[in-house]
Amino acid sequence: MSSDQPLLSVTELVTEFYTDKETVRAVDGVNFDIRTGETLGIVGESGSGKSVTARSIMGLVESPGKVLGESSIRFDGEELTEKSESEYQNVRGAKIAMVFQDPLTSLNPVYTVGNQLKETLRIHRGLKRKAATDKAVELLEDVGIPDAARRMKEYPHQFSGGMRQRGIIALALACNPELLICDEPTTALDVTIQAQILELLEEIQEERDLAIMFITHDMGVIAEVSDRVAVMYAGEIVENAPVIDLYDDPAHPYTNGLLDSIPGEEPGGGDLSTIEGEVPIPNGPATRCRFEPRCPKAFEECLQVAPPAAAPRGEPRRPQSRLPTLSRRHATRRGRTGASRRRGHGGDR
Ligand SMILES: Nc1ncnc2c1ncn2[C@@H]1O[C@H](COP(=O)(O)OP(=O)(O)OP(=O)(O)O)[C@@H](O)[C@H]1O
Ligand code: SF4
Ligand SMILES: [Mg+2]
Repeated sequence: MSSDQPLLSVTELVTEFYTDKETVRAVDGVNFDIRTGETLGIVGESGSGKSVTARSIMGLVESPGKVLGESSIRFDGEELTEKSESEYQNVRGAKIAMVFQDPLTSLNPVYTVGNQLKETLRIHRGLKRKAATDKAVELLEDVGIPDAARRMKEYPHQFSGGMRQRGIIALALACNPELLICDEPTTALDVTIQAQILELLEEIQEERDLAIMFITHDMGVIAEVSDRVAVMYAGEIVENAPVIDLYDDPAHPYTNGLLDSIPGEEPGGGDLSTIEGEVPIPNGPATRCRFEPRCPKAFEECLQVAPPAAAPRGEPRRPQSRLPTLSRRHATRRGRTGASRRRGHGGDR
């Protein structure tokens, strides 16, 4: 169950990359909270800024990138943006852990899975040899790896894709984190294995009361895992709502487009819809709506002023509203039934 106070509060997060050619404003004024025991799904097309948001929280934005000064990332009462690299090392892995999309990049191919787990347990939790070995076996068992004691001695390439992802999750859990960031953890897996990994994450969350930030571009997966969903587009969160509300009554035209693109969910049973065009790369603060070139509801004002940041639904509205007419226009979108929207996505939770 979620407590009232957020475990993580991200406020006005701006992350930029400075290349010879241009400035890329990959994350532009992002706000969201995650509570203990809650899963926040972050969804959006490729290039929308999901991974950079995650890396910003983990303190892993490297040159030529920078988290800008006005950004705030509060975790468990501490301001992470003010931490030095050595202070951040006590947070990263220990309190906030991350599971990446490709298990092979997270596991070192030249060490056995067991050695990597034991090393993490020795460094971060100060466990001695025998205790580290016992704990490593226990962690592999916890994530459903059969014959764990034997598989400790195997190298990552000897594991199947699903088993490797379980190994990565075990590694992420080794330090007993409070927040787990999963960046497309199942994208490389087939659907059956994907379902098993999602189930495993749900079990682990319940056992440990973990907060999870789950990144994906798959609206079906988002419906299954999330309590709340933040929809990202070109560095901004354009909608933030409880999962049921988002699917029943999407407020933003981009969310509508994503929902209409779910296979099997095409309106009237016709051809699958797609959102024409591509996510733009922001080079500075928005001066207009970034979704305008692709928006079926665009009107003149959308070219003249950037819409206000999306206030989370189901929570008090943030005190900012530069162009409330745009938000009202979004809010008038109706006509989607919960039953049809949730069908086949297990979203009724
Ligand atoms: N190191 C970097 N240098 C320059 N630009 C970068 C860098 N890393 C990310 N970007 C840019 O930031 C933007 C957001 O990238 P990000 O990786 O967060 O997208 P994403 O939503 O995770 O996409 P995907 O679904 O493909 O993983 C993109 O335009 C990307 O090109
Ligand atoms: S602000 Fe205008 S262009 Fe942007 S999503 Fe809303 S209606 Fe569409
Ligand atoms: Mg990404």
